[in-house]
Amino acid sequence: MRKVLIVNGPNLNMLGRREPTIYGSDSLAEVERQLTSIAPELGVELQFFQSNHEGAIIDAIHSTFGEFAGIVINPGAFTHYSYAIRDALAAVKVPFIEIHISNVHARETFRHASVLAALAVGQISGLGIYGYELALRGLLRSIEAS
Ligand code: DQA
Repeated sequence: MRKVLIVNGPNLNMLGRREPTIYGSDSLAEVERQLTSIAPELGVELQFFQSNHEGAIIDAIHSTFGEFAGIVINPGAFTHYSYAIRDALAAVKVPFIEIHISNVHARETFRHASVLAALAVGQISGLGIYGYELALRGLLRSIEAS
């Protein structure tokens, strides 16, 4: 079965408790529960990874090489400046979708730029945690079409 890695970057372990007016009150465990519940219907095996550490995220991305059909990634603040994560995604060439819970384009200027998005199949921003489901469905659609 096709495998997809769901990656969450720094501070997303605090989801539900962290700035709930921006990120909502659902936890990361709830996100994982929702994605797990649709995985059988989508014919996909999901693995979940969260880390607050750039190198650990890079290692997780490397582990997808030749093993995973795609990646859904919320890189957190690394979105805006991690050339190392960008290089890891470029190295493995595994298709990915970048997702943000908040609308990064309506927030501080430093959040408007993504150093990863140009390599992504697409970017989802501002739809809350529902964005993860949309990202997964969109990723699979794009893989099937390719
Ligand atoms: C975020 C947006 C980022 O700017 C921020 O640093 C995060 C979360 C989001 O999901 O909206 O940690 O990626």
